[in-house]
Amino acid sequence: MRTQTHNQPTPFRAAITVFAAVAIVAAVVVSSHPLRADAPEPSVVVTPDATGQLRTLNVNGEFDLSNPFFQELGTNGRTCNSCHQPDQGWTITPAVVQQRFADSKGLDPIFRNNDGSNCENADISTLGKRRRAFSLLMTRGLIRIGIDVPPDAEFVIDSVDDPYKCEAPLSGASMYRRPLPSTNLGFLSAVMWDGRESPPPTPSNNTILTNLAQQADDATTGHAQSTGHLTSQQAGEIVAFETGLFTAQARDDMAGRLSADGAHGGPAALSRQPFFMGINDPVGLNPAGTPFDPAAFTVFAAWDRQGHDEQARARQSIARGEQLFNTKPITLSGVAGLNGQTFAIGVTVPASFSGTCTICHDTPNVGNHSVKAPLNIGLTDPSRRTPDMPLYTLRNLSTGETVQTTDPGRAMITGKWADVGKFKGPILRGLAARAPYFHNGSAATLEDVLDFYDTRFNIGFTDQEKANLIAFLSAL
Ligand code: HEC
Ligand code: HEC
Repeated sequence: MRTQTHNQPTPFRAAITVFAAVAIVAAVVVSSHPLRADAPEPSVVVTPDATGQLRTLNVNGEFDLSNPFFQELGTNGRTCNSCHQPDQGWTITPAVVQQRFADSKGLDPIFRNNDGSNCENADISTLGKRRRAFSLLMTRGLIRIGIDVPPDAEFVIDSVDDPYKCEAPLSGASMYRRPLPSTNLGFLSAVMWDGRESPPPTPSNNTILTNLAQQADDATTGHAQSTGHLTSQQAGEIVAFETGLFTAQARDDMAGRLSADGAHGGPAALSRQPFFMGINDPVGLNPAGTPFDPAAFTVFAAWDRQGHDEQARARQSIARGEQLFNTKPITLSGVAGLNGQTFAIGVTVPASFSGTCTICHDTPNVGNHSVKAPLNIGLTDPSRRTPDMPLYTLRNLSTGETVQTTDPGRAMITGKWADVGKFKGPILRGLAARAPYFHNGSAATLEDVLDFYDTRFNIGFTDQEKANLIAFLSAL
């Protein structure tokens, strides 16, 4: 395989070049004139997306492209930016991945067979073979995460129905997952879909930073196939860069500026949003003891006004969607990690109860789970399996019971049978820029996300409710 570095036309580079140029002009002008109010700030990247404009605010000031985040730190030509690109909400989307494949004939560094291909070490010697080898990356933006079953696990992998016939040993599993956005990180309570790079449960200021440094090093030895480790300075610079980023939808094609007329959309308001672990926890894990408020989102509360023109109607739809997200009753049952679980002393969640979207997406105006609480909402059940996903059969070593799953999730980290199919509740900002959704990219659109919840929990959304929820989620 050629390891020649392809000079990739990343949208980030394009966007940054424009802003860097403006910044230089502004710097020259600033000595004698005040900055023009309409001049873009050097610390903001604005890119178009499906329903409007996405913005990333860098609270540390100008984007520093010499930060190790943008450097090749390994041996395969990849940088963090290979899989975390600002115009795609700091992840990657299938459309852009396909463009990169077409532009580079499948030689862009993202197309490496350590974890970009469906099978490890896939034959990628010809264009046709590359097209087949990277099909999940191209169609759903998925990266292969290979993890061995922990040595003391309560289960073994009995068999796998593998559409790619990778012939990988059953001592581990290949799991195909969406890169999580490398932005808004100060709100995280768990790092990675399965929480494997997470801070310990005791809330403390710096644990998340320590874990992000470890995560950056693991990404370098893993994704970028580095033979050595990052220096603590490099890791520190990456963490300082990525934790300074705040990303949100800033403009909606129909509703206009999302921070207009009393609304609090966009990254500037997000960067001022308070957070601590457990900040709005519903099961007694808030260290401040404040009761759970199901109205976790108040970004667009000011927009629920009657209006006649198209813009007013679009704004009202977003506000109504926010209310539905906060209040629409959902009967929650059978969610492993939630129902029947005992959390704080005296707080046991019933086997079935009426909740809302915000029971799990509880962090105010951000939407991730405010505590590390891996949950199985049923996405990896055999009934949801599509033909492009592997299906693993796991066997419990003490009971002999078996279970099938497309991704064992947290169980591959803890070795616990009870953790099969559990994933974290992710941040819900910048969604319009980064379809498909869920860890396995199984929801191509936000409508598909709602259809999943509708069928899983028998919610019975009306078309109007769905339209409002989609308008709201797209405006985050
Ligand atoms: C080949 C693609 C790829 C490259 C290169 C890559 N990542 Fe990632 N990143 C991913 C995937 C996939 C995940 C989610 C994996 C999982 O959860 O199992 C992820 C997750 C993350 C997360 C976790 C975010 C969260 O919400 O938990 C951070 C932070 C991150 N990456 C930063 C980096 C940094 C820093 C680098 C460079 C040192 C990097 N990534 C390089 C694919 C990549
Ligand atoms: C029982 C807990 C729970 C409830 C209730 C819940 N979610 Fe989720 N949500 C999750 C978890 C866990 C994930 C991540 C699942 C995965 O990908 O494995 C998720 C993922 C998502 C995503 C995908 C985010 C991404 O980055 O891919 C969206 C969008 C979403 N939820 C919206 C909603 C909406 C809208 C509702 C209410 C109709 C809702 N959720 C109710 C737990 C929940």
